[in-house]
Amino acid sequence: MSNSLLLLSYLIGSIGFIVGLKMLSHPATARRGNLVAAGGFLIALIGTLVLYRDANGNHLHNYGWIFEGLIIGGIIGVVSARKVKMTAMPEMVSMFNGMGGLCAALIGIIEFDHKVHLPVREYLLLNGQTISILSNNTIQTGLILILLIEVVIGIVSFTGSMVAWGKLVGSIKDKVFKGQRIINFIVLAGIIVLFIYLLCICPQHIQLINGDLAGLKATFQISTEAIVIFCMIILLSILYGIFFVMPIGGADMPVVISLLNACTGVAAGCGGLLYNNAVMITGGILVGAAGGILTILMCKAMNRSLKNVLLGAFGSAAKKQDEEGQAHGPIKEISVSDAAVVLAYAHKVLIVPGYGLAVAQAQHACHELEKLLESKGVEVEYAIHPVAGRMPGHMNVLLAEADVSYDKLLEMDDANSEFPTTDAVLILGANDVVNPAAKKDASSPIYGMPILEVDKAKMVIVNKRSMKPGYAGIENALFFEPKTSMLFGDAKKVLQDLTAEIKQM
Ligand code: TAP
Repeated sequence: MSNSLLLLSYLIGSIGFIVGLKMLSHPATARRGNLVAAGGFLIALIGTLVLYRDANGNHLHNYGWIFEGLIIGGIIGVVSARKVKMTAMPEMVSMFNGMGGLCAALIGIIEFDHKVHLPVREYLLLNGQTISILSNNTIQTGLILILLIEVVIGIVSFTGSMVAWGKLVGSIKDKVFKGQRIINFIVLAGIIVLFIYLLCICPQHIQLINGDLAGLKATFQISTEAIVIFCMIILLSILYGIFFVMPIGGADMPVVISLLNACTGVAAGCGGLLYNNAVMITGGILVGAAGGILTILMCKAMNRSLKNVLLGAFGSAAKKQDEEGQAHGPIKEISVSDAAVVLAYAHKVLIVPGYGLAVAQAQHACHELEKLLESKGVEVEYAIHPVAGRMPGHMNVLLAEADVSYDKLLEMDDANSEFPTTDAVLILGANDVVNPAAKKDASSPIYGMPILEVDKAKMVIVNKRSMKPGYAGIENALFFEPKTSMLFGDAKKVLQDLTAEIKQM
């Protein structure tokens, strides 16, 4: 009975994850989706704590450790989620993802020892009649395979995420050294060779140390050679995680974080297989699949292959181009009062939000301006580039926070067909996502990335604080075009000034 209830709690948990994930795909339901998934997880967690029994019918023990972990982890999670700035979300995602990878790896490391020391009776009960003890006192190779995948992917995800975190907070610089790719390849090949070797030799290296198989009371011990190889795999995985993320450039970091997120999902799913735990398997599959899909979507939005992202050293290419510099001629500035006149007398205005809007926390001021312009009969909509900002859906979340209606958010393709009939485009802290070099300059690191084609509108007003480049580190020819006017200043202040000016008209 208690086992059926436990499985029911896992089923509810899994349904919670799936429904929650679906709801996360739209800003209107995302908040509730998060709660639904968390609720599902809570039910599965309570089910495990209360109903789980091992093969011998014993409840979980070590409740002290479990609750200590839950309370400390819970407090850290709540405090950091409340404190984190929207612009620092990728750092937090990276850190939390790394912790997930570390958890999965630690489970695998502990179980490597645990699984070989389990009494035969437990194997029988765990695995039914197709017992994992083979004729030669060996344990299932399949079990070791899953365990090794969990350890390797979990560790790579952990160390890779920590390097990504360090880069995003600015404490680690992009590093590409000579022969980096070859070294990465050698380390990866080393992991694969040792992995296969251990998988092949493991069964012969597990010896019966006491009891007898017939009495089903035996325990086993693994040889020192197998343990040494296992430790070498761990060490090489640590190195690979570091080397793999080290050369990847700044603007590609969200893609790598998403890929590492998918890796953590796979590692957690392997943990689920190891424990035969349905909810861990579902959770792992969902995280793995969602992370994988997101990685592909982000690559598509930047028109780059994953291979190019992982091997392209984007950051250094961008820096080189920036160092070379590009002369584009003089720029034209516009005052707040002139910009206010342009916007207030336009028929149609498209606002292009970017990372700078998030930095300035100007979403509410932006919504105020939008409402004011609409009250004056101006049609206002937002053009959203899929990689504007620093994380997927960044602009959608930011604008939703200010109660901007979702119907007003145009996706890139829709927005691009609207620009030719737009009187004025107001760019707020966006740069790379409107850079025409992506279309016109084959030597540009962002060449091929689809952009918002703002230059098709009658007039373009660009708000930013200076002429500094955006995240990709490259200059933007749009700022020098005749139909572009620069409106310098912090986005929030500029929007407040524009609103005040238009109110007086
Ligand atoms: P960016 O190209 O980074 O440009 C942001 C601009 O905002 C900067 O040029 C900056 O200029 C300005 N700014 C900063 N603070 C400001 C403030 N307080 N007020 C006004 N302006 C301010 O941003 P974007 O156009 O949104 O492009 C996003 C970049 O991230 C792209 O390179 C994209 O490939 C990359 N990326 C994003 C994602 C996701 S999923 N979002 C994934 C991968 C890569 P000043 O310093 O002169 O003010």
